[in-house]
Amino acid sequence: MSVVAVVGAQWGDEGKGKVVDLLASRADCVVRFQGGNNAGHTLVVDGKKSIFHLIPSGVLHAGKRNVLGQGMVIDPRVLLEELGRLDETGRLESAGIAISDRAHVIMPHHLVLDRLREQTPGGSVKVGTTLRGIGPAYEDKVGRRGVRIGDLLSEERLRNVLAGALEYHAPHIAQKGHAVPDLDETVRDYLDFGKKLERYVVDTVELIHAEIETGRKVLFEGAQGALLDVDHGTYPFVTSSNTVAGGACAGAGVGPRSIDRVLAVLKAYTTRVGEGPFPTEETGEMGERMRQAGGEFGSTTGRPRRCGWFDAVAAKRVVRLSSASDLAITKLDVLSDLDEIRVCTGYRVDGKPVDALPYAAFEKAEPVYQNLPGWKTDIRKARSIDELPENAKAYLRFIEDVTGAKVSIVSVGPEREATIHVQELF
Ligand code: IMP
Repeated sequence: MSVVAVVGAQWGDEGKGKVVDLLASRADCVVRFQGGNNAGHTLVVDGKKSIFHLIPSGVLHAGKRNVLGQGMVIDPRVLLEELGRLDETGRLESAGIAISDRAHVIMPHHLVLDRLREQTPGGSVKVGTTLRGIGPAYEDKVGRRGVRIGDLLSEERLRNVLAGALEYHAPHIAQKGHAVPDLDETVRDYLDFGKKLERYVVDTVELIHAEIETGRKVLFEGAQGALLDVDHGTYPFVTSSNTVAGGACAGAGVGPRSIDRVLAVLKAYTTRVGEGPFPTEETGEMGERMRQAGGEFGSTTGRPRRCGWFDAVAAKRVVRLSSASDLAITKLDVLSDLDEIRVCTGYRVDGKPVDALPYAAFEKAEPVYQNLPGWKTDIRKARSIDELPENAKAYLRFIEDVTGAKVSIVSVGPEREATIHVQELF
């Protein structure tokens, strides 16, 4: 198998960074295809924690290609800061960074608009975004007034496109009492960013296809999770891109036939940051216990994550949405202390049973639980399925049965080594 897509299968923060980092050791090329610095990948290597928001999680392995695909929205200031950090640790030259000339750029007015909307939602809902300008950047893309990375290499193009976008947004920003970013100053700053990034800017579609055609192993790294997908998630409490595996096709520029396997990453329980429905949420002591045991605080915004039980109805749906062949179950160790573990196998809406994700009434969906026995054993040292207690194995089998996909990776701790490889993906 030479092309694998890894996608989040809940509301993000499933531990994709670690999984991608592991697979990256066997891959030749890692490609991000959507989202921007709303994502945060926490990687723990040799006891040292690194958090990246934009750069693919393959960068901690020397000699790989790390591609930022055209479906992304890129804040060049943040990207340069991350490249600078890689440089300081001597990893930049071997990181093989390539940035799509077609990826859209997060501009200062996107940051202003994201804040304005979240502070005074007006006609829109308060989503609890990461305030990184992601939504407004995608809106400008679809509105055909977006600045692309390639535009940062030409003053004429940048000025033209940006002038149009500012003209469009200025009345609204001014009406809300905020300063509209200055055209000349922004052009100057962003041309400077363009100069610094120019050596990495390429047509990544050609590059990715050349990798695939020469039999190199390519890994597509999703950000966020399927329940935040703009089409399939808990709309309107979603991000602005397609986070399902199909997003890799549009965002990287490959057809569905190019992807051999899809790995959906599921945390052994569920978390969510930001607003929006979350039927299995535990707001009391149990939620707090999961938050502390799992260190559930956002790696991008530091916000405490909402915590709750595993939702098998949602898991089944997202495995279908991404045609996932394989599963990575992360943070299984976090449940080790519990006598009983709840899993949601259906919902009730207005007293009536529902066994699929309800469209509008998701916030009213009450979970129907099945209780599975806990294992009450420290599993952090397990390195094969056989080393897991029977009840932990039964928990994994339950997830396989309900989703129809195979568990290929189990993570039992934050370190690279704390992993059970059931089946190689490459
Ligand atoms: P945005 O992507 O910043 O526009 O935020 C939209 C929603 O997606 C908010 O609920 C965010 O908390 C959530 N979100 C965005 N990125 C991530 C992520 O990487 N992990 C978890 N939640 C995310």
